[in-house]
Amino acid sequence: MQVVRDGRALRGRIDVCRRTGATVGFVPTMGALHEGHLSLVRKAREAVKCLVVSIFVNPLQFGPGEDLDRYPRDEEGDLALLEKEGVDFAFLPGEEELYPPDFDTKVQPGAVARDLEGAFRPGHFTGVCTVVLKLFHLVGPHAAWFGAKDAQQLAVIRKMVRDLSMPVRIEVGPTVREPDGLALSSRNRYLSREERERALSLSRGLFAARRAHEAGERSGAVLLDLARREMEGLVDLDYLEIRDPHTFRPVPDPVENGLLLVAGKVGSTRLIDNTPLGKEAARAAGEEV
Ligand code: PAJ
Repeated sequence: MQVVRDGRALRGRIDVCRRTGATVGFVPTMGALHEGHLSLVRKAREAVKCLVVSIFVNPLQFGPGEDLDRYPRDEEGDLALLEKEGVDFAFLPGEEELYPPDFDTKVQPGAVARDLEGAFRPGHFTGVCTVVLKLFHLVGPHAAWFGAKDAQQLAVIRKMVRDLSMPVRIEVGPTVREPDGLALSSRNRYLSREERERALSLSRGLFAARRAHEAGERSGAVLLDLARREMEGLVDLDYLEIRDPHTFRPVPDPVENGLLLVAGKVGSTRLIDNTPLGKEAARAAGEEV
């Protein structure tokens, strides 16, 4: 595995691979790697000849008062994991590499980025789109892998790629969870034992609604209430909503297909999770149906 920190050097070396006819795959991350990230790396590894993984904690997607400064960083551990997965290039740009002092252009996503995470984290998706577009330009991948865990991010990136005619295929990997249901997240390490216990109510609520939907329940209000009941008093909810997995607009009632999405704080840690309701939504979330 080659560790590259310079954007031009990366592009040059990947160009060499591409000229031999190799397909290029890309998994962007912010590091503190866990099995969720590695599941994407493994899917990509099977699909392409040349695999690039980036690690960059993107300051542009963090709001004031968010956890940029304490975001977990473990370069050595991360590189060892990527080496083991057979990654060809680990790209670790410095901040000045991607954002020189005179940097002044951003990618502004539209309606799909407006609500939910977009509303609670103003500017977040602008930061995500900007860095992902830059990384795509440096890597030039044929395909890139994103996790269903960050469902709105996935929808925003799919839309950006279509709207801006970017020549890259977006692939999705399903949410990887702990055996007890907690969705893996780099932020889980902030949780105390007692907080982690409370955080379990997120997946418990989502699954209660999902099971009811599988059993035939189609009322949005009933499904939301089933989920909310598990979380109430345990999580300080930002939102609990059912949305279209592609447009992120509200879905019609009765709910045939939709994503049930939740965000909230447990102590000072903000967590998000989601589960698909219906076969089409499950397919969009990378699940085998
Ligand atoms: P990060 O949070 O490090 O996540 C990198 C990728 O791993 C994302 O596509 C995310 O959806 C996926 N992922 C995280 N937890 C997962 C889980 N439990 N199961 C499956 N996939 C999971 O998302 C970002 O970084 C950044 O916004 C980035 C796209 C790198 C741009 O800065």
